[in-house]
Amino acid sequence: MVPDIRIRPMTEQDIPRLAAIRPGFVSPTTLVVEKDGDGLAVGWRLAERPLPEPYDKGDGYDFDQAERRHILARLRKGDGLHLVVEAEGTLAGMLDVAPEEWNNTAWIWNLMLDTSVRGQGLGRELFRRTVTWARRQGFRAVVLETQTNNVPACKFYARMGCQIEGIREAYYSNDDMARGEVAIFWIYRLV
Ligand SMILES: CC(C)(COP(=O)(O)OP(=O)(O)OC[C@H]1O[C@@H](n2cnc3c(N)ncnc32)[C@H](O)[C@@H]1OP(=O)(O)O)[C@@H](O)C(=O)NCCC(=O)NCCS
Repeated sequence: MVPDIRIRPMTEQDIPRLAAIRPGFVSPTTLVVEKDGDGLAVGWRLAERPLPEPYDKGDGYDFDQAERRHILARLRKGDGLHLVVEAEGTLAGMLDVAPEEWNNTAWIWNLMLDTSVRGQGLGRELFRRTVTWARRQGFRAVVLETQTNNVPACKFYARMGCQIEGIREAYYSNDDMARGEVAIFWIYRLV
């Protein structure tokens, strides 16, 4: 039987149920940041390398109370795009996009699918809806961030036509490079 999957607008009642989504991932490779030079003549390069053991994010993306509060605040503002994917009545994915008015872009805070519903075009569909919405709103670009250890998501966004516009080597902590989790920023230009 074909599972009953639908995409619909998020409501406030969905927010406590977001924890039902299992958004973890396993990656056999990582993107290593190679840095050259110093002072003003400095450059960074990403290289995909196999890991001795696959990296398993486990439930490290789980929606804790603080995260749920942030999502609720963005939803209540009413100026973004907030959708959920429902599979057989259970939440199986979410999209959480909000305007960045100061630079006229739409920021993807969350685009996540439960492990059980991946690989069937739902991620592409959520990204397509983001682009359609952002274009209608008149934004100049869709922007987002991934991490060097989330190679599956990087490959997905590259496939969607996004381009890497830069990295930040100390976005989460002073030793992101040593920890192997460096922020990568992506752009999908609309004009
Ligand atoms: C990233 C994610 C949203 C992709 O969703 P999905 O529904 O599995 O992706 P789709 O089936 O729509 O795939 C769309 C395209 O991306 C490609 N793609 C998706 N995952 C990929 C992967 N792991 N490696 C390589 N390509 C991948 C597909 O091959 C497909 O290309 P095609 O249509 O040309 O064949 C999903 O894996 C996920 O929720 N991951 C965990 C959470 C996360 O990391 N989110 C992003 C950061 S916020």
